[in-house]
Amino acid sequence: MPQGTFHFPNGFMWGTATAAHQVEGNNKNNNWWAWEEQPGRILNGQRSGLACDWWGGRWKEDFDRAVETGQNTHRLSIEWSRIQPEPDRWDEDALDYYRQIVRGLVERKMAPMVTLHHFTDPIWLCDGRCFPSGLGAWENEEIVPLFVAYVRKVVEALKEYVTYWVTINEPNVYVYSSYMLGAFPSGQHDLGAAFRVMRNMIRGHAAAYRAIHEIQPQANVGYTLNYRGFRPAHPSFPPDVWVSRVLSANFNQAFPNTLVNGKLRFLYHRASIPEAIATQDFFGLNYYSTDLVTFDPKKTNDLMHRRAYPADAEVSASGFVANVPQGMFAALDWARHFHKPIMITENGVDDAEDHMRPGYLIEHLHQVWRAVNFNWPVKGYYHWSLVDNFEWDRGWTQRFGLWGLDVDTQARFRRPSVDIYAAICRENGISSEMVGKYTPKLLGKLFPG
Ligand code: FCB
Repeated sequence: MPQGTFHFPNGFMWGTATAAHQVEGNNKNNNWWAWEEQPGRILNGQRSGLACDWWGGRWKEDFDRAVETGQNTHRLSIEWSRIQPEPDRWDEDALDYYRQIVRGLVERKMAPMVTLHHFTDPIWLCDGRCFPSGLGAWENEEIVPLFVAYVRKVVEALKEYVTYWVTINEPNVYVYSSYMLGAFPSGQHDLGAAFRVMRNMIRGHAAAYRAIHEIQPQANVGYTLNYRGFRPAHPSFPPDVWVSRVLSANFNQAFPNTLVNGKLRFLYHRASIPEAIATQDFFGLNYYSTDLVTFDPKKTNDLMHRRAYPADAEVSASGFVANVPQGMFAALDWARHFHKPIMITENGVDDAEDHMRPGYLIEHLHQVWRAVNFNWPVKGYYHWSLVDNFEWDRGWTQRFGLWGLDVDTQARFRRPSVDIYAAICRENGISSEMVGKYTPKLLGKLFPG
């Protein structure tokens, strides 16, 4: 069997990603906490509760785990409702605590990447109380200056430690889940509202981009996009091909294209947002899986389609993620056309038993390595996630952590994937020895004789 190592470029960033509401615990002042209190919203009625108790200090032990296993960066998010608990009040203690947290990363020689908005909104923004028109949160364009004020406050406080900023996490998932599918708060099925929210998120991103650069000229600012592979279920059946393209145009392309040409085309609407042009320093790409798409004219509310995973793909126990590593390569092939350094800001699989994760991890990173070999500018990879955390509408039913979490006792346990990822981070590559040791079934595929 051939021996070898797939090397990554020097200085490649290896880390994990988390988000405030999913790990901190007791985020009582945002729309998700309120949503979790409503019956039927979260699978099995589960709640974020204490989450991973990072606000109680357990970030320290988790950061120790990360650095001791070879990671040199971590992506986390700031909870707006902690910084600004009321429209007219800033919480300096919360800002100080976040300073401690990001300093904790720097002290451990892990570069912080900070997300400023990751799905949650302060409750006072959602009830329309501060807007004369009464429209809540991102439906209202009056949110833009409020978001910028919050961003300025955070960037001023953390700029000593942080140069990588993500303005908004997955605006496409936020819009889809909250305003089309209705699975996230505020649970709407309203394409008009979906368009307004998309437009305002682009405006918010663009304004935040400029504000961050004003405060910190050397900043690296991006947002993250959840790139979904959409392949026609029957490639020779034109309606399947057409609807796959429609999905990709709306879900994958609407936001990033607007940052190129200033023109938003989303759902059945258009808007001109010239201030969005050239407002990203890196492309933040989240990739999990790929769908096969079938045209279905009856699904008028869901852009006339049905989706399924490829029949031959390995699928996680909850059915949430299918292992389609070629989709990672396709995503990078697409993202490189934006001519920016690419950060893979999320990738992972829910797998409590760690049966699927070892292969998923190695095969996806192998595809990243292939991309790097074409000199595509991939600069880093953040696995989702460091430790099991609260998975939104799926509650605690999905376990994405390298480390497992016992939610009742807060005990962490080490899944085998910890060692695999540690070996890759330390080697800055994937060796045939590692593959032989951890995923022997993949040896012939990755290192053919
Ligand atoms: C992404 C989210 C992240 C996490 C993963 C599994 O869409 O950004 O918070 O829930 O999915």
